[in-house]
Amino acid sequence: MRFDILTLFPAMFEGPMTESILKRAQEKGLIEVNLHNIRDHATDKHKTTDDTPYGGGGGMVMKVEPLVSAVEAVRGEDSATPIILMTPQGRVLTQKVVQELAQHPRLILVCGRYEGFDERVRQTVATDEISVGDYVLTGGELAAMLIVDAVSRLVPGVLGAQWGADEDSHATGLLEYPHYTKPPEFRGLRVPDVLVSGHHAEVEKWRRRESLKRTWQRRPDMLLTAELTDAERWYLAELAKGNS
Ligand code: ADE
Repeated sequence: MRFDILTLFPAMFEGPMTESILKRAQEKGLIEVNLHNIRDHATDKHKTTDDTPYGGGGGMVMKVEPLVSAVEAVRGEDSATPIILMTPQGRVLTQKVVQELAQHPRLILVCGRYEGFDERVRQTVATDEISVGDYVLTGGELAAMLIVDAVSRLVPGVLGAQWGADEDSHATGLLEYPHYTKPPEFRGLRVPDVLVSGHHAEVEKWRRRESLKRTWQRRPDMLLTAELTDAERWYLAELAKGNS
């Protein structure tokens, strides 16, 4: 998976892209993160990348020419790669969108600053727009990092084989069950007996139930679209009645 990120602040990516799992994934050649400075495509002597908005009003707008020139230089002849603007006006990032993005071998992520992009960036080169949530950041860089992180962990080999992404909260349509590790007791709180029983089938049953219970308690909206068996629906009905 190759990410090309267009930004005015490439140094912001140091740290998140150069530590831990993403660092190892790059060392192993599983992902590639290329940073491109939009300012390199500004043509005037002051290297201007933003300007005041037509029609007045506050704030600055990112200029169209440096952005389109940067996108076209990075894209080259490749017309299949999504060109995604990071903006609070985009479709909201969910695990489903992350899975969809992970199907592509390459993504181009364009980070905005200031009040936003000149509308003609959308009209000429963008193929998609993504928001990482209903709040406003100072720029698209953190949003792009979230996408790189969430997509990379779906690339085969990025996570250790023993902890795949299949059972993640959201990947299954449900929140995850509670996890425990040693010690068996902490401040009077014991690890549930079933988890130390060694009974694999019972452990799986417990986990599925706890996952359902947690989702019902915290994100009941997710149950509307989760794939459930009749027995699981019955269990949820009992939960709702306060019987479980
Ligand atoms: N830029 C500013 N806010 C943003 C958001 N919520 N998502 C993506 N890009 C942004």
